[in-house]
Amino acid sequence: MSPQPQAAVGAPLSRVDGRLKVTGQARYAAEHDVDGTVHAVIIDASIGRGRITAIDTRQAEAQPGVLRVLHHRNAPKLPYRDNTASNNPPGERLRVFQDDKVLFHGQPVAVVIATTLEAAQHGARLVKVRYQTEQPDTDLTDATPDKPTTYARGDAEAALRKAPVRLDLSYRTARNHHNPMEPHATIARWEGGKLTVWDKTQWVVGTQTELAAVFGLPLDSVRVISPYVGGAFGTGLRCWPHTIVAALAARVTKRPVKLVLSRRQMYFGNGFRPAYAYRLRLGSDRRGRLTAALHEMDGETSSYETFTEAIMTPGQMLYSTPNVKQAYRTVPLDVNTPIWMRGPGFANASYVIESAIDELAHTIGIDPIELRRRNEPAEDESSGLPFSTRRLRECYTIGAREFGWHRRSHKPRSRREGDWLIGMGMAAGVYDTARATAQARVRLDADGTATVEAATSDMGPGTYTSQTQVAADALGLTMRTVTFRLGDSLYPPTPPHGGSMTMASVGSAVLDGCNRVRNNAIKLATEDRQSPLHGADPNDIVVRGGRLHVKNNPARGETYRALLTRNKSTHLEALGNFTGPEGTPRHSFFAYNATFAEVAVDATLGLVRVRRMLGVYDAGRIISPKLAQSQAIGGMVGGIGTALLEHSVTDPRDGRTVNANLADYLIPVNADVPDIQAIYLDGEDREADPLGVKGLGEVVHVGVAPAIANAVFNATGRRIRQLPITADALL
Ligand code: MOS
Repeated sequence: MSPQPQAAVGAPLSRVDGRLKVTGQARYAAEHDVDGTVHAVIIDASIGRGRITAIDTRQAEAQPGVLRVLHHRNAPKLPYRDNTASNNPPGERLRVFQDDKVLFHGQPVAVVIATTLEAAQHGARLVKVRYQTEQPDTDLTDATPDKPTTYARGDAEAALRKAPVRLDLSYRTARNHHNPMEPHATIARWEGGKLTVWDKTQWVVGTQTELAAVFGLPLDSVRVISPYVGGAFGTGLRCWPHTIVAALAARVTKRPVKLVLSRRQMYFGNGFRPAYAYRLRLGSDRRGRLTAALHEMDGETSSYETFTEAIMTPGQMLYSTPNVKQAYRTVPLDVNTPIWMRGPGFANASYVIESAIDELAHTIGIDPIELRRRNEPAEDESSGLPFSTRRLRECYTIGAREFGWHRRSHKPRSRREGDWLIGMGMAAGVYDTARATAQARVRLDADGTATVEAATSDMGPGTYTSQTQVAADALGLTMRTVTFRLGDSLYPPTPPHGGSMTMASVGSAVLDGCNRVRNNAIKLATEDRQSPLHGADPNDIVVRGGRLHVKNNPARGETYRALLTRNKSTHLEALGNFTGPEGTPRHSFFAYNATFAEVAVDATLGLVRVRRMLGVYDAGRIISPKLAQSQAIGGMVGGIGTALLEHSVTDPRDGRTVNANLADYLIPVNADVPDIQAIYLDGEDREADPLGVKGLGEVVHVGVAPAIANAVFNATGRRIRQLPITADALL
């Protein structure tokens, strides 16, 4: 088969849905017009743990417009069947309004349904809930951890004892919240026994299975629709209690119900990046070659579910280390269950490892890039497998050159401009190249246009655009003549839109479906006596601009339209399939980066300003350079937040999130964001997936916080081993 010419893939195209978004025509979850919709407002628990002893709803129910107040005393009992086809962690999920228990501050305890939003909000203020309160556990270091998950190779303790250079470092990272621009929102409508839900989600299939399990419905009685998602960063990877509340409220009132979480509720109504306490002990020889690494990680989870993430992986494969020992403990707390947030697990581990590597380089007195080069592994030492591609050395070389690394002084606190201490730092980043089973339906119509459908989401990376690029080239059509549809559980199933696996998985299914359709058209033409392509070798035919022709003889050919019309075929259709990794893996798959940062720190006030940043990425093939650029910038901006600004504060008395708003929970704004550059290494990973991509949405965030932390050290000579690095820590 002749490879198709690539016109759209690799071109810096603008978003196909850009105009819809900037003109307000893209409908987000709460914006769908559903006839007869009423409004719901959740009342969340004002205690950190305990029981509900009384609920007085009389005043609320007497208000004009209020239809119902639902709570555990009057809500119907729900089946809450197990759902293994979901992202629910092990444990017992929160069952809304099924009993009097309060498991965390902010748990939904009642919902007010009213004909207007204002009536529902007012009604919610009039409901009186009484509690029997218990002291909640909300701090990682005060509670009892679960049994550890462990990993070991070699004898790390013995190697550490013998190591001529030893470091023993303890780090803390804060709870972070996704804070997407669009809050979580759901519209739920029942028609007989069938439920339709418009929801903010990164996984319509997961939300569909969860609603079916909770309400005891067959899967095909639930439809989930989510065409646009206004940012998510991981918070949309599972179905949260408010979606169940909306569906329940709609069932009881027999009206479509709209429920939007407030910004305050976005701090406990959905998950968060768990805080960690992480102790890392490193041993090396005098040249900085690692001989031992001992990782002890404690991470937050809830009292009712055990949330884990891939925080152990980087410590097993990023640097050559013969002796490694790890223990990862979850610590159950009286909080809502955490969830993955950009670069999940890897970002926290990389912060610790990359900060420690910087300390080791400083201790030994060599350049931190040189130290990393000395520890570059020949293979993945956790599996013994060769890396499919690993071009971290090139990331270092290009990054150092482009960023002007030679201008960095090895001596901390040696560059000053007025009140400002200037420093440079860098870090490596890594993220798993995940792939999973996905399908896509491709339909080529006789008018020469095509439609591709898959259940996936577009939370912002540009799935609509990048999948259209893949489809357009594989079908030999222009971007304009291909429509990609997503975000509907009626479309062929796809994995969660997260973990950087959408392009590899969904993209490969799209590619497969388009290849099938193109090949069917080629077969039709070569077997059709009336076609100019009759008798031609199918392997010599390519399609370009909707016209099939012999590769080396462009004059011999015809359009899809002519071919299908003459054959009285309304359309050609195929289901594209990608099965994900099969059998025993023969390679180790990861995407990498080197991230560089320059900071200025006010010597008197401790204020940190990031001055410039550069990320250099080994992420395989880049389908959409303009979108990739946006991903990198977004990942680095998020990293500024994690490094310097973001943390929620919990009142230990009642488990309340004190700063549950965007005024007090700080995220980077324009003035915090400097000149940011991104460079993607040209290349592809032929082992990873048919498209050669390694995923980039997550890796662009990993390594950013330690690059900034290392720059702060270089500027000030101060090691702050906790995130965020706030001004008071530097005073
Ligand atoms: Mo990403 S944390 O899987 O949205």
